[in-house]
Amino acid sequence: MGQARILDGKALAQTIRTEVAEGVRQIEAQGNRPPGLAAVLVGDDPASRTYVTMKGKACREAGFHSVQVEMPEDTSQEELLDKVRGLNADPSIHGILVQLPLPAHIDEMTVVRGILPEKDVDGLHPVNAGNLVIGLPGFVPCTPLGVRELLMRSGIETAGRFTVVLGRSNLVGKPLALLLARKGKGGDATVCLCHSRTSDLASICRQADILIAAIGRAHFVKGDMVKPGASVIDVGINRIDDPSAKRGYRLVGDVDYAAAEKVAGAITPVPGGVGPLTIAMLLRNTLESALAAAGQHSAVTPKG
Ligand code: GUN
Repeated sequence: MGQARILDGKALAQTIRTEVAEGVRQIEAQGNRPPGLAAVLVGDDPASRTYVTMKGKACREAGFHSVQVEMPEDTSQEELLDKVRGLNADPSIHGILVQLPLPAHIDEMTVVRGILPEKDVDGLHPVNAGNLVIGLPGFVPCTPLGVRELLMRSGIETAGRFTVVLGRSNLVGKPLALLLARKGKGGDATVCLCHSRTSDLASICRQADILIAAIGRAHFVKGDMVKPGASVIDVGINRIDDPSAKRGYRLVGDVDYAAAEKVAGAITPVPGGVGPLTIAMLLRNTLESALAAAGQHSAVTPKG
């Protein structure tokens, strides 16, 4: 018997995807190319394949030009870089996403650096990461953008609120902390970036008005780590064995949902919370890239 408001990321993602599809109609009505996204998959990790397939489907539904590039596990770094260079030079492509993780023999940062910053809709290129640090326009990683969007559109005030981000990854924790600490709408939070070496983590979490878990460990956040009435955002997607489930596993977040929802004021479910927003924001970033290529400012989102 929970009391928390459930933050429906799936419904919000659908709303954003509809807005993006409208943006695509407008850009085409003005005689421009539709946004084009290339997703590159190296090897055949099943989870990565699922994500890339979902991204391709979302692109087509929004009216994008969608390219899926599949390369074998033993692709060399140079072959992958060549492919990226080709996509950089292709005017029908506005966004390039190389699905991570890459096979161990390929250096991820070398590949990310090979993507033109203007097409790095994942926001992982050092130029985009640096722009986020100093508050200049640039692409911001999609999951942090999705979290901010969910907070804003759910009416959860961030200004002045003590916000704990658990996890310091380049893809989620670090950019999210920077985004929420930025000046302006959806920002102005007082951010504490915690990680596996943080002392007294539970007591810090218990002070959070907004608690965001992106630590990659199933059910890490227990009910007694949540301040009564807090907003709890669960970015985790962890597989745990479940012989009774159809595939033998089920997906759970970084938060012990059953316990946390009894204490929290608002909470995201897993699945159906942050996950769907990542793809929606990828589409929005790609639309913005296409608008920029057409010489227009974004009609969809402030860069902030
Ligand atoms: N692997 C897991 N999440 C992501 C993401 O957002 N982008 C890329 N490129 N790879 C990922």
